Amino acid sequence: MTFTKTATQIKKSALNELAKTRDINTLAFWRKEYLGKVGKFTKLTRQIAQLPAKERASAGKAVNELKQALAKALQEREKQFHELPPSPVSRSQLSTFFDLTAPGADFQLGHLHPITQMRQYAEDIFVRMGFEVFEAREVDDDYHNFESLNMPPQHPARDLWDTFWTEDELVLITHTSSMQHRILLGQKPPIRAIIVGRCFRHEATDASHEHTLNQIEGLYVDKGIKLPDLIGTFKKFLDEFSQRDIKMKIQPSHFPFVEPGIEFLLDCAICFGTGEVEGERCSTCGGSGWLELAGAGMVHPSVLAEAGLDPQKYSGFAWGFGLDRLVMVKYGIENIRHFYSGDLRFIRQF
Ligand code: PHE
Repeated sequence: MTFTKTATQIKKSALNELAKTRDINTLAFWRKEYLGKVGKFTKLTRQIAQLPAKERASAGKAVNELKQALAKALQEREKQFHELPPSPVSRSQLSTFFDLTAPGADFQLGHLHPITQMRQYAEDIFVRMGFEVFEAREVDDDYHNFESLNMPPQHPARDLWDTFWTEDELVLITHTSSMQHRILLGQKPPIRAIIVGRCFRHEATDASHEHTLNQIEGLYVDKGIKLPDLIGTFKKFLDEFSQRDIKMKIQPSHFPFVEPGIEFLLDCAICFGTGEVEGERCSTCGGSGWLELAGAGMVHPSVLAEAGLDPQKYSGFAWGFGLDRLVMVKYGIENIRHFYSGDLRFIRQF
């Protein structure tokens, strides 16, 4: 076969194959096959030296033409790929050969946030105790966050929660109690529910207050439920969660959706209930030696009636506790703001 014929043939197959390339990676293979050090074009060029002198001039011309044709076609093909939508990997990375078998670069695997870990841990305990887990909406309406909970519009108790409102008068939920009505509605007791959710409060932050907090609500309605059932259930959970006989204080409190209302407090894990750290007032508990953990009480008859349950027949209890605070107590974390600080030195300890 004459030299020029071989050149024409190489051109034909090169253009053919080029049209079949699908992306920058397959293009790299093509480039190697034709224009690489041992590629077909390079090999052809080398043959010129062995040709009889009179044929060399025309062979050189053929090689030049071939080179130009391939370079032009390659450039056009490349341009087409570059016009594709931008890829997250840079073009220069893609156009070099990508070795799928090369060992990966070392990197540190992340893990679940301590609050998420503890939420799952708490949920497991409650599921073992026979509760069903529900998730709260983060944005809800006035009716579910307040009105269905015995707080009509203008009720002063609404001021207990510094509330974020949206422009169309929806609420960033201030508590997971916002789900009580939905769960009670149309259900036949026994009802055993756990509600988890992120709640929001428009308040100044300090060592034990955040604008965003994670609550776990308990709701239990059946015939003959009494206050000791509430206390016993909650205490059992706390002991399981902390793996010790936890010290807990109960004091009266008021929430419009329970009667009577109580509050659970835990001894502060930072000052061990003394109220002082190295002679200074403990900033985690404000020097009281106790951390407020939960509001609770017996579900108010009006809340049951609003959801179509007969308060003469049924009674129930509810609590809402701050998961963040409980995790603080479990691990002796002195400032609630660590959780959302995004500081890896903190996060990596869990
Ligand atoms: N929802 C109340 C709060 O966040 C806590 C609570 C829940 C109180 C259930 C009583 C019953 O402050």
